[in-house]
Amino acid sequence: MRKKVSIIGAGFVGSTCAHWIASKELADVVLIDIFGGVAKGKALDLLQAGPVEGYDLDITGGDDFAAMEGSDIVILTSGAPRKPGMTREDLVAVNAEITASNVEKIKQYAPNSIILIVNNPMDTMATLAWKVSGFPKNRVIGQGGVLDTARYRTFLAKEIGCSVEDIQAMLLGGHGDEMVPLPSYTTVAGIPVTHFIPEDKLSAIVERAKKGGAEIVALLEKGSAYYAPAAATVEMVEAILKDKKRILPCSCLLEGEYGVSGTFFGVPTLLGAGGIEKIIEVPLTDEEKAGVAKSAALVRSSCDVLQEKYNIFG
Ligand code: LMR
Repeated sequence: MRKKVSIIGAGFVGSTCAHWIASKELADVVLIDIFGGVAKGKALDLLQAGPVEGYDLDITGGDDFAAMEGSDIVILTSGAPRKPGMTREDLVAVNAEITASNVEKIKQYAPNSIILIVNNPMDTMATLAWKVSGFPKNRVIGQGGVLDTARYRTFLAKEIGCSVEDIQAMLLGGHGDEMVPLPSYTTVAGIPVTHFIPEDKLSAIVERAKKGGAEIVALLEKGSAYYAPAAATVEMVEAILKDKKRILPCSCLLEGEYGVSGTFFGVPTLLGAGGIEKIIEVPLTDEEKAGVAKSAALVRSSCDVLQEKYNIFG
């Protein structure tokens, strides 16, 4: 039997996720949106690309949340994007309502699924989704680290003039401007990145990666990035559906790891059919530890905004 992935939100990120899931022939796809016609239309359009692209899948869409029944994974993309000059955290109040209401639907119709959170502020929305769903912590996962590392790897490859495929990198922290790329765990075909890039250039690349989302928001003027966010999400979908046991930076509930407790936070994880199967703790330098503490404080303060209404830490 084919796997099934439902995507809530048929905007640019949701529909691009559907596109890549289809082109990799990973699963049947259901696109759900309050604008049912948009979801239905995009699903039909994608379905009609099947004969050309050579995928045999069911791709459907609409506004009926019951259609997600039996999903292996539900990707949550719906929410307001930020505008130029805003931080992701500025979206917390508006997107919390949307997330909480969608997670109630997931709980009702796809209680055995794994939830992938994409909407911002991602770590806060993932913490909220975990709380509202009551799902075990391994089945709620935030997407941010794979995207941030993809940006970091792209900039490194461009600077070195080598293939992006040869850059291995790890990154910690919330999916915000305080995320912590880890040059000490970055290699180029196994060779430390510092062999190729001097420290000042490396710092500039780290800074650019940290602000990678804002750079695109400023360029687009309306909306935010979607190709790389969707590609990152689908890499996680593939790891789960194929039980690949990938080691990827994902946002998950921490209970003391890296000195963080009670919120979702990006760390290296082992991702397979069980969702987050393991959290991997690696030694950090004092500077990296300070970066993690700063990033964790930002996630915590964004979660604090929701405490009264959703009792996140209760
Ligand atoms: C991204 O990093 O592209 C997304 O989180 C969207 C944003 O607001 O930057």
